[in-house]
Amino acid sequence: MAEFTLPTNSKVREGKTWPAPEGAKNTKTFRVYRWNGDDGNTPQVDTYTVDMDDCGPMVLDAVIKIKNEVDSTLTFRRSCREGVCGSCAMNIDGTNSLACTKYIDEVKGDVKVYPLPHMPVVKDLVPDLTQAYAQYRSIEPWMKSDTQPPPGKERLQSPEERKKLDGMWECILCFCCTTSCPSYWWNGDRYLGPAILLQANRWIQDSRDEASGERLDELEDPFRLYRCHTIMNCTKTCPKGLNPAKAIGEIKQAMVQRR
Ligand code: SF4
Ligand code: SF4
Ligand code: FES
Repeated sequence: MAEFTLPTNSKVREGKTWPAPEGAKNTKTFRVYRWNGDDGNTPQVDTYTVDMDDCGPMVLDAVIKIKNEVDSTLTFRRSCREGVCGSCAMNIDGTNSLACTKYIDEVKGDVKVYPLPHMPVVKDLVPDLTQAYAQYRSIEPWMKSDTQPPPGKERLQSPEERKKLDGMWECILCFCCTTSCPSYWWNGDRYLGPAILLQANRWIQDSRDEASGERLDELEDPFRLYRCHTIMNCTKTCPKGLNPAKAIGEIKQAMVQRR
């Protein structure tokens, strides 16, 4: 794998401009971050003009069209194309978003497409999520229980207990929130960031899990949890409309309540 580098915007140079499609009357310009660790060049922004009369409405439609028809070297992640896998998270027009649910029409002027900020880049629009996934592993995101379920039955929850998980189970781990968080930018090696803390709270609040004390012990640390300064970028940017800052607040509250 290529050596990683941070996509520092000051180092980005003007790249290649691809010709507009012949005869197109309704076009939109896409300015796309490109970096390939194998060629030794600094990052650049390439310019593509897309015929909007022959393109779907989402930013991902345009990015796929560019790759299929103009420049097959453009590299990005995507899978579901309907906002449920989290893999197409990018910085679009200055905001972390899912390319498959972001309408091109919402962007005035050129559409700027960058990788998620403050993450090492593998290539072009693909961030390296190794650290984020190691942090996810560290919170042990699975049910922990010493008590056996009733014979032949599932572990039941009351409607109220189940409701506590709403706003957390919907998280698709796209990391739009984490990469918009200034505390994570500067202390990402030690601070878990909003996505992982929301996931941690998902298990702390689950009535069927019997390890919430142990989970809170693991988080009681000046960096892992308490680097959150309630700046709220995470909640503003979440493309699924979730509120990681509230989840972090619930963890802090659980810490106080058990004292
Ligand atoms: S509320 Fe906390 S987690 Fe969210 S952006 Fe601010 S510091 Fe980061
Ligand atoms: S909380 Fe929202 S922005 Fe953060 S990882 Fe989950 S879905 Fe993505
Ligand atoms: S491709 Fe799955 S969320 Fe966008």
